[in-house]
Amino acid sequence: MSDPDAPLFTVTRKHLNTGLRGYPVGTCRTSAVDPDRGVSYIGYPVADLADLEAEAVIHLLLERRLPNEVELAAFRADLRARAGVPAKALDMLGTLPREGHPMEWLMAGLNFLGMTAKTGDYAEDCRNLIAWAPELVAAIFRIRSGWGAPIAPDPELGLIENFVHMLGVPGADDGRLVRLLRVFYILHMDHGGGNLSTFVGKAVASGHADMYSSMIGAMAALYGPLHGRANQDCLDFVRKVGTSDPVEVERFVREALANKEKIYGFGHAVLRAEDPRATIEYALGEQICADDPLFRTALTLREVAVRVLSGMEKVSNPYPNVDAVSGTLLNASGLTDSNYYTVLFGLSRITGIAAQIVDERLRFRDGKGVPIYRPKFIAEAQERS
Ligand code: MLT
Repeated sequence: MSDPDAPLFTVTRKHLNTGLRGYPVGTCRTSAVDPDRGVSYIGYPVADLADLEAEAVIHLLLERRLPNEVELAAFRADLRARAGVPAKALDMLGTLPREGHPMEWLMAGLNFLGMTAKTGDYAEDCRNLIAWAPELVAAIFRIRSGWGAPIAPDPELGLIENFVHMLGVPGADDGRLVRLLRVFYILHMDHGGGNLSTFVGKAVASGHADMYSSMIGAMAALYGPLHGRANQDCLDFVRKVGTSDPVEVERFVREALANKEKIYGFGHAVLRAEDPRATIEYALGEQICADDPLFRTALTLREVAVRVLSGMEKVSNPYPNVDAVSGTLLNASGLTDSNYYTVLFGLSRITGIAAQIVDERLRFRDGKGVPIYRPKFIAEAQERS
């Protein structure tokens, strides 16, 4: 047993106003992020889980063990019994302005569900939310994109197969999309306790706001371009590079850096090696869209940007993160509008955030839960201007 009084971290003045970077503030039972090996869920490296059924990995995060066949069937049946977003929530989506970002639509949808369908029990609302999120997100795609009315869920299908069925993407190869989204969903589910959206969701819940309001806070955090919206910007960046010729790509990267522009998809707050989620995505791309020109660009960037960034003094992590190529794969699989990529991230991350909220509200501190978040901010000399 480690000494509960031993210091974990010493805070000095130079740590102030640095976004709590690296401060230990709590514990996380669902996942851990190792700077070199990346994320693991309940001790399993994410690479070992990427080919499983989505429902098995959700079960892992909620119950802390992979289900056997019987448990998996029962868990699926439970999610299926909960599925079916109330029709009035889908009707409400039809009243939202198209100029709203899909993440703003997601927050509106969550707000409506909270107002009309919350139980007030964190564990119950966690499961309902996980069961409803695919239908809600599919309806957002269809209504906002003008593809047509929402498509009803098919209870015979698995979670991702059903999601692709409900998306009904015009002209897409559904087989390829299922293959990609099965992996995408698992890779994005959770990333330790301190990523911004998870932290915010837990902070909101610490004031005993319900699961839906807490998740709206989390999704607002995920919407930021430095967090979940980076996957949308990454595809736009790869499109802007516009070539897979290494010499041209290097010229582009060096010019961008000289103009103090961001090299999207590279670097991470915690990781110090290539994100294993990116490694999995690159390998999947070789299988599903090897000849896609944007994928070739992303592969060249993987070589060139790492080399160029590694030579820069202040860069602590020059390696690709989960966003470096995910948008390129989504685009090659028929989801060509990058505005929607963050709701796909949100659809998946809802699971990890909800699971962690349940832990903080109902399990930690012998079931008493974590108290309301209240960090200390040091008052500055408060001169009047
Ligand atoms: C991620 O999935 O990489 C994140 O949510 C960002 C983070 O871990 O801070």
